Parts: sequence; C-alpha cells; structure tokens
Amino acid sequence: MRVATQEAAQDFPMSTHPSVIAPSVLACDFGRLHEEVRRAEAAGGDWLHLDVMDGHFVDNISFGPAFVDAIARVASVPLDVHLMIERPDRYLARFAKTAANITIHVEAQCDVAATLAAIRAAGGTAGISLRPATPFAAVEPFLDQIDLLLVMTVVPGFGGQPFMPEMMEKVKAAAEARSQRGLGYRIEVDGGITLKTAPIAAQHGADTFVAGTSVFAAPDMAAAIREMRTLI
Ligand code: DX5
Ligand code: ZN
Repeated sequence: MRVATQEAAQDFPMSTHPSVIAPSVLACDFGRLHEEVRRAEAAGGDWLHLDVMDGHFVDNISFGPAFVDAIARVASVPLDVHLMIERPDRYLARFAKTAANITIHVEAQCDVAATLAAIRAAGGTAGISLRPATPFAAVEPFLDQIDLLLVMTVVPGFGGQPFMPEMMEKVKAAAEARSQRGLGYRIEVDGGITLKTAPIAAQHGADTFVAGTSVFAAPDMAAAIREMRTLI
C-alpha cells in the first residue's frame, strides 16, 4: 500500500459515513491524464475509480498497473481500483502499492476468500463485485470479509452504457444483509450513474457512486458532482 495507507484507510469510510462520489477515470482524456485527475479532484470527486480490464474477463482492455502508478503520482484522493481481470490474485501486489481499495469479481478465476484476505493483509480495503447476471447469493459467503460491495449496474467492460434498474434488487439485498448481519461494508454502484439514476440507487441503499461519462463529459464537472451530491 502507498505511504498514505493510514490516511487512505481514514479517507475510505465505511457505510455509516456520508455518500461518496468516485469519478471513473475510464471516461477521461488519457492523453491529458494528470490534468484530468486534477480536474476530477478539483471538481469534488471523493475517490478516483480505476477500471482495470484484461481482455479476458471482459471484452475490453483498458490499462494496467503502470497507468495506475501514473495516476497515483498526482492523485491526492484514495484510489478505488476495480479489477475486471481473470486472475486478480496474480497482480494484487502491483496494485496494492498505490490503491486504497481493491475490488475483485466473485466470478474471477481465483480463490476469492484468499484473495480478499490478501488485499487486507497488504493494508488496503477489500471489495467484491458481481456481474449483472450473477445472483446476490454468490457474494453472500464473503460478506464478512469485505469493506465494499460493488453492484454492477451495467455489463462490465465499457463506459457510457445505460443503467440497469433491475439491479436495484441486489442493492436492496446488500443493504438488508448488512443490517441483519451487523456488517459495515459500503455499497457501491457502477455503470450508467447519472443525476437521474444516482438517486434511484441511493433510495435502494447505495452509498458510493461511480460516475464516468456523466461527470467527465458534463459541461461543468464541479456542478455535476455538486448536484449529484444533493440528490443522493
Ligand atoms: C464499466 C466500468 C465503469 C465505467 C462506468 O465496466 O466498471 O466503472 O467506467 O462508466 P459510466 O459511468 O460511463 O457508465
Ligand atoms: Zn468500475
């Protein structure tokens, strides 16, 4: 984990804390990466969400650890790394150097419990995510091992897709399971999050909102984030 691990852990509050908005770097101009990172922070983004894709787990290739390191060199907010890769266990150490949170998919080809434990052992918070086609029951065995549950609200792989309202059942189930079991994980939604859909997710129990296109392509990113915050 990066030097600021202690700070990062504090900045990565669990669910009793206010809502978090995490701009997704996938939607930024990669050619002006450092400026875009600063722009997202200046606009009020609480965390930066980084989508790592390997061309196997999803049908797209985005960026890897060197790109994440380049972001970490200028970022001052926590980095929320979303690994859409088949073997997250093989690459953890590379991402753990700079990430505050690492989220793996329950569908990944690895020992999920061991990988979540390895993330925490490296000093970070651990997240688990599930594809739209995966039922909530698939993540239930891991709920006491996580700090964040990421409910995908699009099929992972690309930004700019429409929000899937039918995923709200899973958000609701995640919130119910959390209170029934006295757990403290955050509930994050990712995909198609806009001023229209963020409040819907919030009503169902989401507290952490990944927004790519809707904030990076907004005419005024600060206004978009500010407005989203008032709605969630
Ligand atoms: C999709 C990624 C998302 C993506 C969201 O697989 O996990 O984080 O960047 O982008 P928007 O907000 O444009 O749907
Ligand atoms: Zn993501």
